[in-house]
Amino acid sequence: MDKRLATDSITIKTAQILPPDTNAYGTLFGGKLMAYIDDVALIAAVRHSRHTCVTASTDSVDFLAPVKLGDFVILEAFVTSTHKTSMEVFVKALTESFETGKKNVCATAFLTFVALNEDDKPVPVPGVIPKTSQQLELYDSAPLRRKRRSEKRRQSIKMAKEFSGEIIKRKER
Ligand SMILES: CC(C)(COP(=O)(O)OP(=O)(O)OC[C@H]1O[C@@H](n2cnc3c(N)ncnc32)[C@H](O)[C@@H]1OP(=O)(O)O)[C@@H](O)C(=O)NCCC(=O)NCCS
Repeated sequence: MDKRLATDSITIKTAQILPPDTNAYGTLFGGKLMAYIDDVALIAAVRHSRHTCVTASTDSVDFLAPVKLGDFVILEAFVTSTHKTSMEVFVKALTESFETGKKNVCATAFLTFVALNEDDKPVPVPGVIPKTSQQLELYDSAPLRRKRRSEKRRQSIKMAKEFSGEIIKRKER
């Protein structure tokens, strides 16, 4: 299958943080930032594969700096690497002060998407051609992250089996 340039999947989204998206401290909800990250990453995955895609996993997200009410959040995403039917997408989220224009990275994340065919079955995706130094670095380090993710998936499946049918109950008094 053909390979596609990592650059061709680059997706950028900018949003202003408004009151419905903030917590009691006037900063962006973590869950809202994660939704933005998922949205922008999904578009990068679809741009790369030209298929419907679903999120298979999100690696841990560290919130490095708060995003304040009125400030902008800028999200940049691209496909770093692919395997057979899955794609790893890197997302960088920045805050931009609406007053000064100063930008800070507030989070980075890796997500894995799977491309699906018309029967909702995983379908092969094109490989990636990295060009820039950042793209090359992330491309080269992708196999190690994939290995860690496979182990985490095994643990998640084991935990799902152990807890199947159970609901978390309050401690009996
Ligand atoms: C993701 C999903 C399509 C995988 O389907 P599956 O039948 O388990 O298929 P497979 O086990 O063959 O995995 C297909 C690919 O997904 C990858 N994958 C599956 N689960 C993964 C995970 N948790 N993390 C990373 N990659 C994962 C596999 O490594 C494989 O990649 P490859 O083909 O490039 O080698 C399926 O588990 C699913 O539909 N999950 C729900 C997705 C969803 O609803 N997302 C929205 C969140 S609410």
